[in-house]
Amino acid sequence: MAKEKVRVTDLAAMKAANQPICAVTAYDYPFARLFDEAGIDVLLVGDSLGMVVQGAPNTLAVTLDEIIYHTRMVARGRTRALLVADMPFMSFQVSPEEAVRNAGRLLKEGGAEAVKVEGGAALAPTVRRMTEMDIPVMGHVGLTPQSIHRMGGMRVQGRKPGLRPGGFERVLEDAEAIAQAGVFALVVEGVPVELAARISERVAVPTIGIGASAECDGQVLVMHDLLGLNPGFTPRFVKVYAQLWQQACAGAASYIEDVRQRRFPAAEHLYHLKEG
Ligand code: KIV
Repeated sequence: MAKEKVRVTDLAAMKAANQPICAVTAYDYPFARLFDEAGIDVLLVGDSLGMVVQGAPNTLAVTLDEIIYHTRMVARGRTRALLVADMPFMSFQVSPEEAVRNAGRLLKEGGAEAVKVEGGAALAPTVRRMTEMDIPVMGHVGLTPQSIHRMGGMRVQGRKPGLRPGGFERVLEDAEAIAQAGVFALVVEGVPVELAARISERVAVPTIGIGASAECDGQVLVMHDLLGLNPGFTPRFVKVYAQLWQQACAGAASYIEDVRQRRFPAAEHLYHLKEG
């Protein structure tokens, strides 16, 4: 793992060198610092914020100001990782001009080094406009959570052939269109192995998979899922690497019990008057 700062331009070199890209979501200073010190390549302030931090049923209500607020905290916690901020629902769909203005805020006010947008061919002109303005853009195709209502829920995409939304060829076309429009990397979410492989071989930019197999050039997970902070949510694509919820519950219960039993604070936790 290189100690140098990861920049947008490094991800293509990692793909060329067949070096997997490690990405994770983060929403605040301590976890940004933790993953940065662990050597993560990319920190994404995802609009999954709405679900895992705010407790909402989906990502749609997340605002640009909220992403900016959390991006600022993450920016303070990282020194090495590339910082990418998600563009929330309706912050980039209305017009390319609005997308450029809002992406600019994520860079200026949040300290992001790049933005991420969900969508396919229809979004290509917007991505082109943003990249022409020197705003690095990460794409996101396949299961795009902002399309929850169109998809009829959080459903794996590209399982069936066809050019209709959600069809194998349609997701592939979307990936190619968005790659050609100038994204520097592409999140591929919730697609079968075969489609992830096809996208990764067809597009020149690195693919970063979530629920999209090791055929991608890198992986991203939501931090709450991989650290065991999302109890009751373990879909097939998640691997849980720590059990922080259980540990935190045990800590919380011990603290409450210690206070109730007057075991805390003990002698070593006390201050005394200074003599003299
Ligand atoms: O919002 C998010 O966290 C994401 C990742 C899951 C890729 O888009």
